[in-house]
Amino acid sequence: GRVAVLLGGTSSEREVSLDSGRGVLDALRARGVDAHAVDGIPALLEAIRAGRVDRVFNILHGGDGENGVLQGLLQALGVPYTGAGVLGAALTLDKIRTKQVWQSADLPTPRFLRLPPNGDVPAAIAEIGLPVFVKPSCEGSSVGVARVADAAGIAEAERVAREYGGEMLVEPLVDGDELTVGILGELALPSIRIVPKGEWYDYHAKYVSEDTRYLCPGLEGEEEKRIGELALAAFRAAGCSGWGRVDLMRDRASGELLLLEVNTAPGMTSHSLVPKAAAQLGIDYAGLCWRVLEQTV
Ligand code: DAL
Ligand code: MG
Repeated sequence: GRVAVLLGGTSSEREVSLDSGRGVLDALRARGVDAHAVDGIPALLEAIRAGRVDRVFNILHGGDGENGVLQGLLQALGVPYTGAGVLGAALTLDKIRTKQVWQSADLPTPRFLRLPPNGDVPAAIAEIGLPVFVKPSCEGSSVGVARVADAAGIAEAERVAREYGGEMLVEPLVDGDELTVGILGELALPSIRIVPKGEWYDYHAKYVSEDTRYLCPGLEGEEEKRIGELALAAFRAAGCSGWGRVDLMRDRASGELLLLEVNTAPGMTSHSLVPKAAAQLGIDYAGLCWRVLEQTV
């Protein structure tokens, strides 16, 4: 049947989504799928009403595309879609509540303070202790995230995080490696260790820089097995299914793995991570898109 590749939208990650979506659209078409692009949820509703949609490949990043709103709408309309359902999407677009669920399931995540939209950022930073990350709870692609190494960075971090309006969290900076694990159905893909050229994997290192290095698999032997199991457990504890990506840190001193967040519509740009992990298993980009579509519920 006809597949709507849902891209763009109105979140802060619109440009990333357009980039991901074009890649997915081209790949599905090359595989002979009758696919067309639809920009944003209102346009999708029109296309559904016009009878042009049999299933949705959702590649909206952030906002109503990744927070349960779209998922609820499509569920109510009986239109199959890729990725997590209502609960998994709604929970995981909220980093604070995802971490609370992990804590209650005894899954490891950095401690944190939760701040209301007008909360006292400097006081929270003082309580956690420098260095820290300040993050809006409900944005993606590191948008609004600030790494604060010293007191001079506090005011700027507060300004940047506040721009996005919602709740914020303050987490201690984990000194160690940044890792990610793609999930495809029941399978954890090989982990990727991200080695940014600058201090951390920010928006520029994610989508612009050609100097970010990716090691896949990111760990060896028992540790690689453990990170896959942990990522799958974290994905399931957060109510997710279909496909997605779990981001983690590995503490340099202790080797401990710490969960950061889950993405239920992970990036599919030419710089993105899940395609790199799939490639390690011999699954090319088009094959990955096909398998994601197969997970549609
Ligand atoms: N939120 C971006 C698209 C990602 O996780 O890949
Ligand atoms: Mg994210």
